[in-house]
Amino acid sequence: MNNSLETTYTKMVSLEHRKKFAQFFTPVAIAELLVKWLLNNEKLQTVLEPAFGLGVFSRILLSKKNDLEIKCFEVDDVIFGQAKKEFGDKINMLLEDYMYNDWENKYDGIICNPPYFKFHDYDNKNILKEIEKHLKCKLNGFTNLYTLFLLKSIHQLKYGGRCAYIIPSEFLNSDYGKLVKHHLIKTGTLRHIIVFNFEENVFDDALTTACIVLCANDGNSNSVQFTNLQSVKELDKIDEAISNYPIMSDSLNVYSLSKLNPEIKWKIYYQPRNGNRFKKLVPFSNYAKVVRGIATGANGYFTFNLAKAEIFNIDEKYLLPCICHCTDVKKNIFTDSDFEDLKLQGKNVYLLNAINSKDKNVIAYLQKGEAESINRKFLTASRNPWYLLEKRPPAPIWVSVFNRTGLRFVRNKANISNLTTFHCIYPHLNLFADISIDLLFAYLLTDTAKQIFEDNSREYGNGLQKFEPNDLNMGMMLDLNQLSKEYKMEIMKYYSQYLNTHQNNNMTVIDEIFKQQYSI
Ligand SMILES: C[S@@+](CC[C@H](N)C(=O)[O-])C[C@H]1O[C@@H](n2cnc3c(N)ncnc32)[C@H](O)[C@@H]1O
Repeated sequence: MNNSLETTYTKMVSLEHRKKFAQFFTPVAIAELLVKWLLNNEKLQTVLEPAFGLGVFSRILLSKKNDLEIKCFEVDDVIFGQAKKEFGDKINMLLEDYMYNDWENKYDGIICNPPYFKFHDYDNKNILKEIEKHLKCKLNGFTNLYTLFLLKSIHQLKYGGRCAYIIPSEFLNSDYGKLVKHHLIKTGTLRHIIVFNFEENVFDDALTTACIVLCANDGNSNSVQFTNLQSVKELDKIDEAISNYPIMSDSLNVYSLSKLNPEIKWKIYYQPRNGNRFKKLVPFSNYAKVVRGIATGANGYFTFNLAKAEIFNIDEKYLLPCICHCTDVKKNIFTDSDFEDLKLQGKNVYLLNAINSKDKNVIAYLQKGEAESINRKFLTASRNPWYLLEKRPPAPIWVSVFNRTGLRFVRNKANISNLTTFHCIYPHLNLFADISIDLLFAYLLTDTAKQIFEDNSREYGNGLQKFEPNDLNMGMMLDLNQLSKEYKMEIMKYYSQYLNTHQNNNMTVIDEIFKQQYSI
């Protein structure tokens, strides 16, 4: 079997025409693998090809099992005419739009390389309505057509039926993909996601990253296996994945359907973990504990700047120095003088700390709070008294909660508290022996530390990363105790130079030392 039909057609028809219908063809080597998934269902009899083109899948299918009943859909009459010459009456060919037809029929096998259009190039609104009506689900308005083909096909599987799709991997990691992933999980049919991370293009000029999605409506498994392919040489991995069915739950990159989180980018399930490049890793919790910052339940009421303290006549001894906004901290090291600067700039840098105060001005401010029902808010209502501050000693290191450009660690030299804009990091001093907080901090500033933590990040759309305290506690780090005394001293030397000069090349040298000592 070969792609000669497609090659001839490509020469005959303009690129413009092919683009208009998204006619990019599946290479036979890959089509064979999708076909294999369908044929592994011994009861395969009725097959649907929803985006036919020149029918590469049907050609392969019929060459292996000539009694199959195949139906197909195609909207372009030019390619339809060419295909008709090849297939004659061997299959039931319909010149119709798949999305608006055939909802009532079900099949043993559905196989497809659906059209991939840019969002504005097709009638998104009406197709979405059609899908939402039949599947009774809500989807994001930006949901791309290729995923709608997939959801419709899953809906059209008979019990025991299988479906094989090759589509862009975009939906796995995009915002509109979240609801698609919710629905995929809900159907209980998802079995394999095989992602191409090829340097070279899988399809001539159309896609750089594609994935194969294999589903089965058979109740034989509740596991999904992710396979990541780096080059064409690894196509064997697909064959292996397809052949091992039902999926063994203890195989590599296998997750129970109920454990998959549709809200996060799924690359976390298939991309190689950064930590795999290093040896001597230990959980971060061996060295420190990460706890969320102080939650007040009413920041506007509890936070103060100097002017507000003056207006309400609150003495400084009833105010707890505190960082309220992560953007107020510009550098890696936060000092007393940075705190003084923020005070002078009129930033909110205090929290009301009214416990046991008999001061009349403090009492008046508390009464004002009660008059404004601050004491009846969700968090304050659960505290006794309602204005009690959470007990959090100032943390020597802070780490930002949301990040766009990687984790940001700050050494809190000013010994002040922090709101939830940062998490608090408390190093276990007793474990440290000759490791100082500064050595730990020097490590945390390196790209290596950040990359290893990234294995545990939650990603929200637009490249926004979030770390909950436990994502960091359970994240891994290099075991600093395994460094020789000489290297520890060397690192501390560059770290003090960094503190004095703020020159990043010192941090680069530190990172190099870690890489040299811990890389596999
Ligand atoms: C990406 S090509 C795949 C062709 C072939 N199945 C293959 O894998 O080589 C998608 C095909 O679907 C057709 N198509 C586009 N929109 C369609 C629709 N709404 N219903 C049915 N076919 C459609 C295009 O004309 C094109 O031939």
